Amino acid sequence: MKDLLLGLDLGTGGTRAILVAADGSIVAGHSVDHPLSTPRPGWAEQDPEDWWRSATAAIRGAIAKAGPSARVVGIGLSGQMHGLVTCDAKGTPLRPCILWCDQRSAAQCLEAERRIGLDRLLSLAGNRMLAGFTAPKILWCREHEPELERRAAVHLLPKDWLRHRLSGTFATEVSDASGTLLFDCPRRCFSEELCGLLGIDLRTMPPCFESPVVSSRLSREAADALGLAAGTPIVGGGGDQAAQAIGTGLVREGPVSLTLGTSGCSFAVRHRWPGNPGGVLHAFCHAVPGTWHLMGVMLSAGGSLRWFRDEVARDLVPLARSKGVDPYELICEEAASVPPGAEGLSFLPYLSGERTPISDPHARGAFVGISTAHHRPHLARAVLEGITFGLADGLDLIRGAGTPIASLRLSGGGARDLFWRQMIADVVGCPTTLVNTTEGAAYGAALLAGVGAGVHPSIEVAVDAAIRETDRLEPSASAPAYRPPRERARRLYPLLREWFASGSA
Ligand code: XUL
Repeated sequence: MKDLLLGLDLGTGGTRAILVAADGSIVAGHSVDHPLSTPRPGWAEQDPEDWWRSATAAIRGAIAKAGPSARVVGIGLSGQMHGLVTCDAKGTPLRPCILWCDQRSAAQCLEAERRIGLDRLLSLAGNRMLAGFTAPKILWCREHEPELERRAAVHLLPKDWLRHRLSGTFATEVSDASGTLLFDCPRRCFSEELCGLLGIDLRTMPPCFESPVVSSRLSREAADALGLAAGTPIVGGGGDQAAQAIGTGLVREGPVSLTLGTSGCSFAVRHRWPGNPGGVLHAFCHAVPGTWHLMGVMLSAGGSLRWFRDEVARDLVPLARSKGVDPYELICEEAASVPPGAEGLSFLPYLSGERTPISDPHARGAFVGISTAHHRPHLARAVLEGITFGLADGLDLIRGAGTPIASLRLSGGGARDLFWRQMIADVVGCPTTLVNTTEGAAYGAALLAGVGAGVHPSIEVAVDAAIRETDRLEPSASAPAYRPPRERARRLYPLLREWFASGSA
């Protein structure tokens, strides 16, 4: 029998299960999609039962690929953060989950910040009250679906709802709990004060663990359904960004990472609670005990590029298929055919509002400066540059908060493209690297499981043994050419802010 660790990442598009051996090698992986519903513009919901279907299918798929000699000795969960799954005492959801990218609670954010006071909120929760985070969603439900609060026994985060289905126990861990805004990040526990000020019963929040600690054990029922052993330990795990950071080797101060998925997240570990002056970044507990992290989040990084592929460059999809390449490769080829700055064309990537650096749920995307001289390659370059400039602004804030960026560790689907990686090195002004694994959050969750299961002595030891940097890329001679277009893009949002706020959406 081969002892394996199961890492499960509950994403927005689907669930991925991977099986990792004690030496860190990946034995098998399987992904299964689940649907997303947008009942109104700016809203985003999912049915947790769909997660259960994708998670069980992903686990079974990975186990089938690993073969009969595989024995799972520990389970780690990672997942999309901030979602609200309000359940009755049996863990049955009382409504669909309201997701991280849902913007309906802007009014509740204003009211909650007023009630708590911005300084107190930042010193306890480390973050501004942002639409998409969990607490304002609870307040939205109170106002619009008052019946729900009467029946609510527990508020769970997405991966923690899966934990309950797997184990029958309610639990969360510090990194995901930080994203509820009901959490005292410096003290790493739910905050009586924040819950009290918002009128939310502290008892509706689940017990909270450190991420590598065993929180629960696989129930007999779930074990039978999955072909695993009842009693298998399930560790706390991590919110997807913390787990992704572990999966790219960020367990101590030093390296800074940038994950290019639908969202774009910059991430820096801190050994002391960093606070969050001005509230322009996120400050959360990290999944490494005794550490925290600063994070900048662009909501539509890869999301803007996906929009461009689907709405502007759809013809490249069959072409890419016929050439056996990724459509994004062809988009980057088009973008590379015009010079930096896209000959005067700028793009703002605020397709779903924005968090870092502008914190504005009303902001929307924009192409500015189109002329008859522009063709699709200019649009493609403007989109890539607009995303990159916004990410670089987030990284500047991390630098400003006292974290030097000697190099940038890239991960996520967007990191595959050499052209984009070079653009990032040029714009941010430091070398970029990749790491030897691309499994990200699921891998981080599996390594955390290894600590709880006694396979690894600590998460730092596990990461040091398994993860190393590759593909270092230095800034090129093109770097100075990005300065004027970045400056131009920076001036755009302040000019458009009022127009966005006046209800363009
Ligand atoms: C982090 C965040 C996203 C979601 C979805 O704050 O909102 O990473 O977790 O991936």
